[in-house]
Amino acid sequence: MSGKTLGIGLAGFGTVGSGVWNILKRNSELIRERTNGVVTLEVRKIAVRDLNKSRDADAPADRFTTDVNEVIDHEEVDIVVELIGGTTTAFDIVARALKAGKPVVTGNKALLAERGQELFALSRQHQAPILFEAAVAGAIPVIKAVQESLIGNQIDSIAGIINGTSNYILQRMTEAGLGYPEALAEAKELGYAEADETLDVNGWDAAHKAILLASLSYGGLVDSGKVYVRGIEKVTPLDIRFAKELGYVIKLLCLVRRHESGIEIRTQPSFISSKHILASVNGVFNAIAVKSDAAGESLFYGRGAGQEPTGSSVVSDLVEAARLLSNGGSHRGFLPGDQEPVLVPVEETATPCYVRFKVTDRPGVIAEIASALANAGIGISGTHSPSDPDNPDAEFVDMVFVLHKTPFGLLKDTLAEIENFDSVTERPVVFRIETL
Ligand code: NAP
Ligand code: HSE
Repeated sequence: MSGKTLGIGLAGFGTVGSGVWNILKRNSELIRERTNGVVTLEVRKIAVRDLNKSRDADAPADRFTTDVNEVIDHEEVDIVVELIGGTTTAFDIVARALKAGKPVVTGNKALLAERGQELFALSRQHQAPILFEAAVAGAIPVIKAVQESLIGNQIDSIAGIINGTSNYILQRMTEAGLGYPEALAEAKELGYAEADETLDVNGWDAAHKAILLASLSYGGLVDSGKVYVRGIEKVTPLDIRFAKELGYVIKLLCLVRRHESGIEIRTQPSFISSKHILASVNGVFNAIAVKSDAAGESLFYGRGAGQEPTGSSVVSDLVEAARLLSNGGSHRGFLPGDQEPVLVPVEETATPCYVRFKVTDRPGVIAEIASALANAGIGISGTHSPSDPDNPDAEFVDMVFVLHKTPFGLLKDTLAEIENFDSVTERPVVFRIETL
């Protein structure tokens, strides 16, 4: 069997776009063979901002344009790939392509999590698929797993490390003792971070991915405004050290969990036991643990960002899109509908917690805090107050309380009270301890 060559329009030729070009250049023949000659792909138009920029791939100059519409409207472009990022121009590109009936492949989690409602509606209306494997966890085929392989399962929970930049930064701070700015600069240099790294470090990149996973698992698009999100910007070497002394590591974790009353979804730096399998997921690697009723526990692991790992997922979607065009079939996987799932308020979710207080070093301080916690019904499973060998007579010391499982709302209210004690000199630092 032999198929026609399908034309690709590539909007964006940065880290991922040039990775896609290089993979196709190297492996096009392999793809053709593996698809029985049905899928031959050729990049016919490429949109960028700056035609004079040096690139990581050597595409011919005549394919480039600065006009994104040229990429979409070109008569020899059958599939449009959006790899520019953001939620404005990217939205226009995807919407225009779908309206023209062209399948879209994108790695843009922010776009789908924030404006997916409109785009999936256009996709349904114009019967043009949106494929987005690259949007969650780089090279790991977790979207296909949830959309297709686990389609006959009730998903109980998804827990994972799904931002390579944060994971890389936390590991470099933990193991190499690097400061936050140095570790971030390395992640940028390696092509893991977004053009604007804000979303990586403030937790939103991971939250967008969690929203997509939740939407695929529970049917409708989650309103991002209702999701609890914290990033790694305030993780200090001190908490990293205390975590280690207590037998934990700090990871930016995303959690999606089904409760009787709704869906719990949150992203935050959390303590996990240093013996847990996710504790050994380091650097740019991501891992996602899915619990479902029939399959039980499944773990997905791989590179979560970077040029070719992400390019690999884009190419896989291109082959899928080409197959759909060749066979005239519709997308095989489940896609989110427009019913918004009910979310469980974060205040109602409960975990054990680590709380660090900066206090004046005087008798009775520990008892004062312990008694406020006890009055609120919060149990203490341990305390930790390492003295600073360089400064044994320090006026202020760090005092850690490890708390039994506590509803987050109750903890917040109690800490608001303790924060006002004369002996407490700074806002308490809280990390949830996830037992997963
Ligand atoms: P990038 O390196 O910043 O590349 C963006 C590309 O888009 C550049 O080629 C840029 O042109 C072009 N561009 C931006 N605005 C444009 C406009 N208005 N018109 C025409 N071209 C425009 O970004 P990236 O890292 O490849 O990421 C692309 C997308 O993939 C993002 O949605 C990101 O979230 C997602 N993603 C990235 C990774 C990763 O590891 N990097 C992994 C998964 C998903 P110039 O080159 O001329 O500036
Ligand atoms: N900036 C993202 C990350 C890219 O670090 O995980 C992959 O989505």
